[in-house]
Amino acid sequence: MKNIAIFASGSGSNAERIVEYFAESEQINVKLFLCNNPEAGVIQRAERLQIPLIMFDRPAFKSGEVVKILQENQIDWVILAGFLWLVPKNVVEAFPNKIINIHPALLPKFGGKGMYGHFVHEAVVENEETESGITIHFVNECYDEGGIIFQVSFPVLKTDMPEDVARKGQVLEHTHFPEVIERTILAST
Ligand code: GAR
Repeated sequence: MKNIAIFASGSGSNAERIVEYFAESEQINVKLFLCNNPEAGVIQRAERLQIPLIMFDRPAFKSGEVVKILQENQIDWVILAGFLWLVPKNVVEAFPNKIINIHPALLPKFGGKGMYGHFVHEAVVENEETESGITIHFVNECYDEGGIIFQVSFPVLKTDMPEDVARKGQVLEHTHFPEVIERTILAST
């Protein structure tokens, strides 16, 4: 059994989908949620889903305290599902090629610091893009730059508002993220 920890800073809809997907799995177990934002919707979801949740701050992330928590919980893989802080070196080094992020655009477009959530969808519309999509990728020490595992695109219509782009992307995220996590973990074991 491979244990995964899900890091989330926001609503946590992807985190919930991942929990549902692996509920009956004999190979992958969602062991823990970690959250850095006391206002995040994922906190209520964790309670409802009965997944242990650990809150942490920047010093704990940078000092190695978070890695210690992950190791104590025998975490094999880290999943970033709407997690907005840069992952520090000590965490990347403790989980080499074992941290996976989802980004709501077709990287390398619309990535980097400050490019998250609605900022991405606003930029896509502003730029008059004819398509957008989602990217699932490995995490390194630079925002949104690790090796790409999976991408899928959808058309952006001239009439689409950022909310429309967000909605189309979210459907794809919920459909593909759990499966891609499963495939990636099972392929490396
Ligand atoms: C998702 O759309 C995810 O791609 C995005 O945050 C949203 C979280 O939604 N992540 C980023 O922008 C990371 N740069 P959720 O909390 O409902 O899963």
